Amino acid sequence: MSKIDLSKLYEVAQNHSLATTNAHPHSSDDGNVVGVHNGIIENYQEQREKLIKKGYSFTSQTDTEVAIKLIDYYYKKYNLGPTDAISRAMVRIRGSYALCIMFKDYPGEIYCARKDSPMIIGISNGESYVASDVPAILKYTRSVYYIGNMQIARLQKGEVTFFNIDSEEIQLPLTEIKWDAESAEKGGYKHFMLKEIHEQPKVVRDTINSVLKDNIVHFDSFNLTDEEIKEIDTVYIIACGSAYHVGVAIQYVIESLTSLSVRVELASEFRYREMKLRQNSLVIVISQSGETADTLAALRMSKDRGIKTLGIVNVVGSSIAREADNVFYTLAGPEISVATTKAYSCQLVAGYLLALQFAKSRSEITDEKYTELLEAIKTIPDKIEKILVDKERLQWYSTKLVNITDSFFIGRGIDYAIGMEGSLKLKEISYIHSEAYAAGELKHGPISLIEDGTVVISVVTQDKLVEKTISNMVEVKSRGAKVMAVTTAGKYFLEDTAEFVCYVPAIENLFAGSLSVVPLQLLSYYVSIGKGFDVDKPRNLAKSVTVE
Ligand code: F6R
Repeated sequence: MSKIDLSKLYEVAQNHSLATTNAHPHSSDDGNVVGVHNGIIENYQEQREKLIKKGYSFTSQTDTEVAIKLIDYYYKKYNLGPTDAISRAMVRIRGSYALCIMFKDYPGEIYCARKDSPMIIGISNGESYVASDVPAILKYTRSVYYIGNMQIARLQKGEVTFFNIDSEEIQLPLTEIKWDAESAEKGGYKHFMLKEIHEQPKVVRDTINSVLKDNIVHFDSFNLTDEEIKEIDTVYIIACGSAYHVGVAIQYVIESLTSLSVRVELASEFRYREMKLRQNSLVIVISQSGETADTLAALRMSKDRGIKTLGIVNVVGSSIAREADNVFYTLAGPEISVATTKAYSCQLVAGYLLALQFAKSRSEITDEKYTELLEAIKTIPDKIEKILVDKERLQWYSTKLVNITDSFFIGRGIDYAIGMEGSLKLKEISYIHSEAYAAGELKHGPISLIEDGTVVISVVTQDKLVEKTISNMVEVKSRGAKVMAVTTAGKYFLEDTAEFVCYVPAIENLFAGSLSVVPLQLLSYYVSIGKGFDVDKPRNLAKSVTVE
């Protein structure tokens, strides 16, 4: 959704009700109420049948048409004003929605309603805007309202009024967006993904600096005291996709620095399990958009069970940011490319800093070790910069992967977590089948898939595990695999086994993932470009997954 021309929308809706199509906007039978919708209305069949009994007919198969006609029904039957008609419909429909509705009797006004789907409202010099996220309206304004769940807004020229579900007027704060419109543009790069990969040194540095004061990590805005952190015995990390992969990597770091038990859960699984959460626990949800439906649901479930929650979130004012008890904002800025890169990297460092803080609050780390690890974290941005300078080698190697059909990513410990992310990056933008395996698992089944020419990409940064992973690389190589490795400087012996080795700067093992992931992002990017795909908008994928 972006700036809406009222007269055009009416015109389109009128013509649309004649044509049998599912495209928005949809309108009531007499064209009196018209609207567009983002989200899913779960009980639309039930509402549709009720409306049919009341004499309504439907031209599309959509849940949106049902919502519009339900509003129209209350509007006419009870002779209600727009906000009352909308709120009546809102309590009848189940699911998620960001709805924009217009009434012929109220020209010059757009009504918006929101539940669990992203929606923001902007305002400037006599104009009002509605969109699902901030970058869509940055060209026009930086003054934004974050409409809450189950709230309604009335947009008039340059004026917005908010209402609660009882149609009572409410006040919402106006937020000034600090990022400029330029940062949402490509800034000279061919694609957003490449631009965002190159922004990583800066945004990772910003994220680290945001919690550093006098060389100590401070989480001033957290409601968690050292005493409370000491009492925690279990940390659940819950997320989806790449954010879940961050959780897997962070698990190793927290376990290594503290005595906390850590469980990492896929939000889509967690929400339907009957997991008995320990009361002395902390739930960390990770989300770039802050709107991922499953992650949001997991957060709400955890809160309902009285568990303290903490969100690692990128989008300010998003649902997860608003609902989590504590928020650690990553400062990645707007991420436009569907495949995450810079937000992922910021989430990783956010996780390291949290792990460090947990260790300190629980007195499980010496001051010397704390300083040493913090210094290591602070070197990450410069080291990422160095990897980016050397990207041509990866571009060259990517040409060898353009025509492959299958690939495996292997690694152990943190390297396994990074392999999972590398594998997802490759498959989502280059459509090459790819699997990530903990290297030790290969011989429990997947090794039977290795044949002449199968590509195996190994991540080998963890000193304790190097030999083990090399033995797995040798196993697949002897079965015909083409082996590539990403490792830290100094492990030159990998060239005996791998046909191509990419070196990242040496770093404390716990934080090596922040470096080893960068060549994998670049490799996926170049393979996708080599295949001629739309790297920023891979097929079948959306940037925010706001439905289950
Ligand atoms: C992959 C990717 C997705 C997201 C996932 C969670 O490149 O971007 O896997 O990581 O959809 O999204 P957020 O972080 O917005 O909750």
